[in-house]
Amino acid sequence: MRRSVTIINLPKIEDNRGNLTFIEELNHIPFDIKRAYWIYDVPGGQKRGGHAFKEQEEFIVALSGSFDVVIQDGEGEVKYSLNRSYYGLYVPNGLWREMNNFSTNSLALVLSSTFFDESDYIRDFEKYLKWING
Ligand code: TYD
Repeated sequence: MRRSVTIINLPKIEDNRGNLTFIEELNHIPFDIKRAYWIYDVPGGQKRGGHAFKEQEEFIVALSGSFDVVIQDGEGEVKYSLNRSYYGLYVPNGLWREMNNFSTNSLALVLSSTFFDESDYIRDFEKYLKWING
């Protein structure tokens, strides 16, 4: 991999009333949070997020349930299984990523370093390879 995808462990405040986890921008994750979105009610077997971002960095957490995040950069492919509320995956810009293998009732939280901008997406894998190699 040309850029470092990292599993980041978050604080977990254990309590017999229930556990609590939090994220602070530029403290636990290396960017300012401009946007949060979440993916839910994913039907069995569906895939999300087959694309790359030119600028957007993101942090993905399985708030509930589990799913896999598959990262590619044209040189290799790595699969990360997310299944805990207290860690997540930091994905730098410039990587192709797909999310699949969603469990029933899973909830994926994505924190983004940018506002939504369709022109930041590369949605065609061949175009992505040209962009990353070019
Ligand atoms: P997309 O990012 O392609 O979803 P995924 O990566 O999960 O497959 O977004 C799906 C649609 O939602 C697309 O038409 C763009 C729109 N969208 C917004 O309007 N704002 C957002 O913040 C996001 C993430 C998507």
